[in-house]
Amino acid sequence: RPRVLSGIQPTADSFHLGNYLGAVRNWVSLQETHDAFYCVVDLHAITAGHDPKMLRARTRNGVAQLLGLGLDPERCTLFVQSHVPEHAQLAWIMNCLTGMGEASRMTQFKDKSSKQGAERATVGLFTYPILQAADILLYQADAVPVGEDQRQHLELTRDLAQRFNSTFGKTFTLPAPYIPKAAAKITDLQEPTAKMSKSASTPNGLIELMEDPKRIAKKIRSAVTDTGRDIVFDQENKPGVANLLTILAAFTDRSVEEIVPGYEGKGYGDLKKDVADAVIAFAEPMQQRVKLFQDDPAQLDKLLSTGAEKARSVASVTLARAYDRVGFLPPA
Ligand code: TYM
Repeated sequence: RPRVLSGIQPTADSFHLGNYLGAVRNWVSLQETHDAFYCVVDLHAITAGHDPKMLRARTRNGVAQLLGLGLDPERCTLFVQSHVPEHAQLAWIMNCLTGMGEASRMTQFKDKSSKQGAERATVGLFTYPILQAADILLYQADAVPVGEDQRQHLELTRDLAQRFNSTFGKTFTLPAPYIPKAAAKITDLQEPTAKMSKSASTPNGLIELMEDPKRIAKKIRSAVTDTGRDIVFDQENKPGVANLLTILAAFTDRSVEEIVPGYEGKGYGDLKKDVADAVIAFAEPMQQRVKLFQDDPAQLDKLLSTGAEKARSVASVTLARAYDRVGFLPPA
């Protein structure tokens, strides 16, 4: 079986619609066909300031949400990144193979650091993509299911793998991005040219999977639509409508082309109602499943300890090989 690895940050109380449609939905289906490794990346979550108590709660909550979304620990290896120390260890080696200029070109770093003020951004935020490369390469992943915003980080990962291999001998598999054709970039409901993100400019632009269904419906009703009144899929001129159509198509397992003709003679209000219904039909039962997992932290911890053990058994082999290739003297 080919192998996949992906990760998600526990930096909010709830994952959002973009996380699910861009990435986690594929994680769920790939467990059936691939040797799948998924982690909650708590090391990445401390790169921009955090509260320790909240981080711990969000890490557990993140795991509960992934289970509620359909990850099955019998079918995949689900773990917390900090439980596998090899991630930080391989990241150090990768740091030493990455050029300053190369890291400086990462657009996500540029965006985030300019928001925080360049002087205040941490070195951890700067090396964030290099730790991500280590996450992926440790597992010799063939593919990495993510949203469009991660493409550049995956290119860096491939470059680093190639560089290591050509310098020290073939050690790492070159991973391919696995990015959905539709829904790779869900946009903000209030600002439909920007990607939906937890750092949205207004909370109304963001749909959290764990939020009250009534609020979800309200946010969708007040989504920014575009001028005109025809329902057509035109990302350039009608990004708001295009985003709603994308969401509806994803949740009803249809293509946008299949959906659009049904809206001839109908208005934006009809579309929004259908989107809200579809999202809530998904979110409500999901929230109930998540609550069951949240109510049993002992079960979560147990499952995470099994996950960490499985992950370490793979990661430690790769790290040992990398240490050897780099020339570290093995301890006697
Ligand atoms: P994170 O936690 O920001 O997001 C998790 C996943 O959700 C996707 N995503 C989106 N997809 C579509 N539309 C959106 N609006 C949207 N917003 C987020 C992201 O592309 C991602 O797949 N750097 C990663 C975490 C990471 C990782 C890894 C991923 C750490 N190590 C190793 C893959 C492999 C991140 O910040 O994800």
